Amino acid sequence: MCGIVGYVGPRQATSILVDGLRRMEYRGYDSAGIAVINGTGVKIRKAAGKLSALVDKLKTETPDGTIGVGHTRWATHGAPTTPNAHPHLDQTGRIAVIHNGIIENAGTIRKALQMRGHNFKSETDTEVLAHLIGEYDTDNLEEAVASALWDVEGAYGIAVICSEEPGTVVAARNGSPLLIGVGDGEYFVASDASAILEHTRSVVYLDDGEMAVLKRDGYRVRNLTETHVEKPVNQIEWDLATIERGGYDHFMLKEIFEQPESLHNTLRGHLLEDEGTARLRGLNLSDDELKRFDRIIITACGTSWHAALIGEYMIEEMARVPVEVEYASEFRYRNPVLDDRCLVIAISQSGETADTLAAVREAKRRGARAVGLVNVVGSTIAREVDGGLYLRAGAEIGVASTKAFNSQVGALAMVSLRLARLKNLSVLQGRDFIRALNRLPDQIKQILDRAPEIERLATKYHKAGNCLYLGRGVNFPVALEGALKLKEISYIHAEGYPAAEMKHGPIALIDENMPVVFIAPKDAVYSKIVSNVEEVKARKGRVIALVTEGDVEIAKLAEDTFTLPQTHDLLTPILASVPLQLFSYYVAVLRGCNVDQPRNLAKSVTVE
Ligand code: M6R
Repeated sequence: MCGIVGYVGPRQATSILVDGLRRMEYRGYDSAGIAVINGTGVKIRKAAGKLSALVDKLKTETPDGTIGVGHTRWATHGAPTTPNAHPHLDQTGRIAVIHNGIIENAGTIRKALQMRGHNFKSETDTEVLAHLIGEYDTDNLEEAVASALWDVEGAYGIAVICSEEPGTVVAARNGSPLLIGVGDGEYFVASDASAILEHTRSVVYLDDGEMAVLKRDGYRVRNLTETHVEKPVNQIEWDLATIERGGYDHFMLKEIFEQPESLHNTLRGHLLEDEGTARLRGLNLSDDELKRFDRIIITACGTSWHAALIGEYMIEEMARVPVEVEYASEFRYRNPVLDDRCLVIAISQSGETADTLAAVREAKRRGARAVGLVNVVGSTIAREVDGGLYLRAGAEIGVASTKAFNSQVGALAMVSLRLARLKNLSVLQGRDFIRALNRLPDQIKQILDRAPEIERLATKYHKAGNCLYLGRGVNFPVALEGALKLKEISYIHAEGYPAAEMKHGPIALIDENMPVVFIAPKDAVYSKIVSNVEEVKARKGRVIALVTEGDVEIAKLAEDTFTLPQTHDLLTPILASVPLQLFSYYVAVLRGCNVDQPRNLAKSVTVE
């Protein structure tokens, strides 16, 4: 989604801004631009399309100046054209604004400004905001921004500069992430730490309603009423290498291959083998409190929602606590039945997904305890929940979530174990589960060592126009996730279904051209899924099956099989998802798709 970077200091701003935008390319965008101030006013350069188009323009006309703002835009109001790209200027051309989010009352403000003689050059809500700030500006940019923000409704992360205050960047946040980078005699603003990480690891996270004023000699955080708010400076732990490709062709492939380590990091320090349980201090919930919950709601979006479904199977099976899984986008506008005996678990890789954040706020507003399973440290959801676990999967840059998914499932397995041990799971069963969890990183490695097998399957099937994924029980969500991975990066139409549900409709699609991927480990529903494989075979469907090592029955029926190491039934999703990730990856590469930045998608969806 849109990216913001801003700079004030002694160095030339243009290259710092462009490098920052490059680091945020993974978020997804469709135009880019920068504004830099020097003695001759605000210089704006922008271009529709990829950052390379902007860089080409800058080769012939690089603006000088040591203060500036840069933006990658993911279109919401108006098409992804150069005029709609940010930065936008106010009526006088002195003030430049970049903006993430949506100003909901922009239409009303635009009309009022037009009646007062304002002319607009774009269709964007951001230009409206720039003009509004311009109207308030007499000689103090900070106050002009604060005054304008009283008038706007909606979500924003903004950075503003003005040619008449050539040493100041003003930033503000409401519902769209923003942080300040504290350097040595220089200051940054960014919507994503990766944009500034090569310059500083000291950051100040802004909260909703806060503004920051950055000057060459320091910065100050304030809100709309008070001119000073005390904020801690946080240190970012990950370094540049974690956001670089490290020899892999794509971030997605690198992240798939990091899973032995990322899952190990998720589990590390939490598993108490002797006691057969998990220690989850971050949840901030005592054993008595955990025992008191008589219902759990897990809320998330996309891939994280699929992890939530796996969590539902795990928690109900192991701890016998009823679980509902809700799309965060639906939960936030429903009238959910919640009370203080209901635990809400929000799952998010980025910790910034607007719908999931809104669901957390709604849950808390209604008196429920909300905890988070979040990957990005210091993200908004992580800061707003009552407690939670960091996934510790490391930075995930590829738009298609892979390692974060398996870390989410690993975290949910630990939550299930903890709850189950407080109910009726025996210490011996708990120990078995822990041993199975601890074996997973090595088992993932064994699967990754056989990536060429998956590559061969991708070569065979990459021209398919459609694909069906089928699984049962805890592997039904894996079918959903396999289908999502394939469609989002290769643009092949794919659907996931519970295998038995196929005969109620999707079976009509099956013919000799339809690849059908079965997730069919040797578990409690194995014999049932064998029947489903037979049904597909009978209609000449092309069966690709993920089976447990030693399986012969399905191997006889399937056109292709890939074997998975033996594990606990409830943990098969972690192993089964790995070959499915690789399959989507290789198919997308063979089809010439942009794996890390698939069309129309954003890494972190910070608008509704
Ligand atoms: O950052 P989050 O986990 O909250 O993101 C949720 C979804 O937007 C995300 O999982 C999305 O579906 C990915 N493209 C999946 O690969």
